[in-house]
Amino acid sequence: MAILVTGGAGFIGSHLTDSLIAKKHRVIVLDDLSSGFKKNINAQAKFYQLDIQNKKLKNIFKKEKPKIVYHLAAQINVRRSIQDPIFDAQKNILGSLNLLENCIKYAVKKFIFISTGGAIYGDGVKVPTQENALKRPTSPYGIAKLSIEKYLHYYNNQYNFRYTVLRLANVYGPRQNWEGEAGVVAIFLNNLKNKKPLKIFGGKQTRDFVYVSDVVNACIKVLNQKKTAIYNIGTGEETTVNQLAKKILKISNKKNTIKHLPYIKGEQLKNCLSFAKIKQELQWQPQYDLNRGLEATMDYFKK
Ligand SMILES: NC(=O)c1ccc[n+]([C@@H]2O[C@H](COP(=O)([O-])OP(=O)(O)OC[C@H]3O[C@@H](n4cnc5c(N)ncnc54)[C@H](O)[C@@H]3O)[C@@H](O)[C@H]2O)c1
Repeated sequence: MAILVTGGAGFIGSHLTDSLIAKKHRVIVLDDLSSGFKKNINAQAKFYQLDIQNKKLKNIFKKEKPKIVYHLAAQINVRRSIQDPIFDAQKNILGSLNLLENCIKYAVKKFIFISTGGAIYGDGVKVPTQENALKRPTSPYGIAKLSIEKYLHYYNNQYNFRYTVLRLANVYGPRQNWEGEAGVVAIFLNNLKNKKPLKIFGGKQTRDFVYVSDVVNACIKVLNQKKTAIYNIGTGEETTVNQLAKKILKISNKKNTIKHLPYIKGEQLKNCLSFAKIKQELQWQPQYDLNRGLEATMDYFKK
């Protein structure tokens, strides 16, 4: 089947592309390489370097006729979204709408949207958080993801357009970029490698760390699902950033120092997702606990 993966040169999108190709799908990767890398792209994928906002997108749809679209391309930097909400909305809202309009025009059968479970609910919800919890995103990034979920509801209502939303927790694993405001695991492992202190802003905030291959398995599980649905993808386990740093030092057997700095204003204090819904409906559950996932990620970072 012809499948378009936006953001296929990025961390999660490149693993997804590998898995789809291993399952013999024809994969078309669309990526502007703003935070992804050409070296991540599977050699068997057809690659187009283009911004999702670009009007030329229609030529790719015309030529490649994808039946399924996985949408991962995004401006992923929460702090940048706060500094420049217009830039974030251009990429994450207008870019996504350009993609969706082409999906309708060129009769895409199903759209799988990679949303966020980390930034969509905000603080003050019960943890592990279920999909139907109140959503009060505190950043333009979270607001943009929620907007696209609402647009998907509109497209479904208007055109009977089929979609699945996956709200991911904090994903970590090989190929995660440690530059900018990347995942904390990648930043810590890069500091470990370079013998720098692990900098912790606050430390008692909790996160739900889910390993990238578990996320890819969830993406594959929903590929042939007929119904339109929204699922959290997390582990249901809360880990403080302090605990994460200590765990990394213990597993690696390294002696890097930990440097404590004040909390960053506005940063979410608690995040942890319930995966009960997708477990019940599609029998998905994480296979990697944090120790095993960190060991696999460390092996990659050593290289
Ligand atoms: N990593 C996480 O913890 C996490 C958690 C929740 C949700 N997500 C979502 O998962 C998706 C993938 O994130 P990731 O961690 O792999 O990040 P990433 O930065 O590695 O991947 C994003 C990819 O999209 C591309 N891209 C960005 N803007 C684009 C545009 N306008 N046009 C075309 N390509 C563009 C980038 O070059 C990059 O290759 C994103 O939608 C992100 O919001 C990630």
